[in-house]
Amino acid sequence: MRVAIISGSHRAESQSDRVAHAIASEVRIAGGEADIISLSRNPLPLWDEGVWSNEAKWSAAWGPISKRLKECDALVLVAPEWAGMVPPGLKNFLLLCSASEVGHKPALIVSVSSGIGGSYPIAELRVSSYKNNRIVYIPEHVIVRNVADVLHGDVPSGERDESTRARLRYAIRILGEYARALASVRESGAIDHKTFPFGM
Ligand SMILES: Cc1cc2nc3c(=O)[nH]c(=O)nc-3n(C[C@H](O)[C@H](O)[C@H](O)COP(=O)(O)O)c2cc1C
Repeated sequence: MRVAIISGSHRAESQSDRVAHAIASEVRIAGGEADIISLSRNPLPLWDEGVWSNEAKWSAAWGPISKRLKECDALVLVAPEWAGMVPPGLKNFLLLCSASEVGHKPALIVSVSSGIGGSYPIAELRVSSYKNNRIVYIPEHVIVRNVADVLHGDVPSGERDESTRARLRYAIRILGEYARALASVRESGAIDHKTFPFGM
């Protein structure tokens, strides 16, 4: 299984990036390949109509990411909670994603909070971010609370760190099973995005 891990924070030094690397280690331990795509420092311009005509600006900015997404079997979205929301750069990323890149591929949401937040990003992504790109959020998700205290190095620092790691490991295993199952959906011949380009 090849997993694209999207680190959704724009910050130069973010906890989301650190969590993304911890998830990548777990994916590799589970026998998969991990490819981290970080939105740190805003590598992508804000969406404009040039996307539709594949303007040079967009083939340069999005082309390499598009290729990496097409090569993945599953995704993990690491979403920090910012003012009770998902960061705008992550929404921009999801707007740029098409069904040709992420359609009918399973995705695990991992939200991140420096305190006891983290539920709003889960709700926001599940409500409104899959309609046209057809990404499939699996029912498992993970909320990493008080993130500064967990997921440092290979050895758990305490009970909560251990349970966070166990929860991530379990969710990644389930993601792997969905990756296997949804590959047959994508290969079934039933998908028709030409006739039905927009989810309703
Ligand atoms: C602009 C901004 C708004 C934030 N708002 C919230 C919030 O509403 N709830 C919360 O739990 N944490 C909030 N935080 C703290 C983040 O949870 C914290 O920065 C955490 O490390 C995850 O973000 P990061 O990946 O950018 O580091 C906010 C952080 C920023 C930068």
